[in-house]
Amino acid sequence: MQNNILEVIRILKGANGQPVSGAEIGTSIGVSRTMIWKYVQALQKRGYSIESIPGSGYILRSEPDFLYPELITEGLDTDIIGTELVYYDKVQSTNDIAKQIGSEASDGTVVIAEIQDSGRGRRGCDWCSPEGGIWLSVILKLSMSPSHASRLTLMAGVAVAETLRKIGVNASLKWPNDVLVGGKKICGILTEMEAEAEIINYVVIGIGINANMDPESFPDDLKKTSTTIKYELGKEIDRVIFVQSLLSTLEQHYIKFNTGSFDEILQKWIDLSDTLGKQVCMVTPVKMYEGKAIGISEDGGLIVEMADGSKETLISGRCMYV
Ligand code: BTN
Repeated sequence: MQNNILEVIRILKGANGQPVSGAEIGTSIGVSRTMIWKYVQALQKRGYSIESIPGSGYILRSEPDFLYPELITEGLDTDIIGTELVYYDKVQSTNDIAKQIGSEASDGTVVIAEIQDSGRGRRGCDWCSPEGGIWLSVILKLSMSPSHASRLTLMAGVAVAETLRKIGVNASLKWPNDVLVGGKKICGILTEMEAEAEIINYVVIGIGINANMDPESFPDDLKKTSTTIKYELGKEIDRVIFVQSLLSTLEQHYIKFNTGSFDEILQKWIDLSDTLGKQVCMVTPVKMYEGKAIGISEDGGLIVEMADGSKETLISGRCMYV
């Protein structure tokens, strides 16, 4: 959106429900009040409820429940994550877009969409992405070995769980990429990377959060296994504020990650874990393991202790509770 329109939003928001005249807004931006009326109409089309009181001015009654970049940017306290935002009302998959633009994009660029037509989950599964959710992908440009990429999945999980806990949703983490509430999935994370000859060009962390929707609206196979923020809190959240808080938390961890302090993130993952201490069945492409989840390795792998006392560290695979 143009800067002038953003200025109009800023001025109307700053008036806290009091009318501001078109002439006053025009003077402060340096355009005519006819132009201000055009901006107001554009905003109304975009879902802003702006009342026009003849002889008095414009009042901003409510902002739309959309994840418009200008709404997210206003009040975002990050220096890296989300300073570039790419917005779509509908897209196939934010991870696909992030991978298309990844080479040119700057570190921390976020691709966000209201709806994904072909949202992707792990192991080639579909990811149900209707309106009301938070579907975003973060492009990270960092130099590390591809074998450390799963650390980033854990980092993102910690950031999501912490952000959910801040709003009163008691989230915990299931290895490697699920955020659960009461045993049901509220968020999934899909980390993908572009690497050549053991050097990572960029990593895309796709985060899908079931936010302002009802679990009953999900397809039958997900109804029993998934939950949403709206269901857990009994009310809808302001998704813009949630995204701002998530990006800010993610950035704090990313900075630690980049300065080599993965131990701290790992400890947070352990503290938030739902998996450790549980009997698990791990399905990998080559073998199936059953045992107790006893720890997380430096590379973000799950350490499983088998009945005979032997231990395996599994870097990838499907983890099921038994
Ligand atoms: C999983 O649990 O299987 C991972 C789900 C990841 C979903 C997110 S939504 C945003 C991003 N775009 C996608 O297509 N997938 C990820």
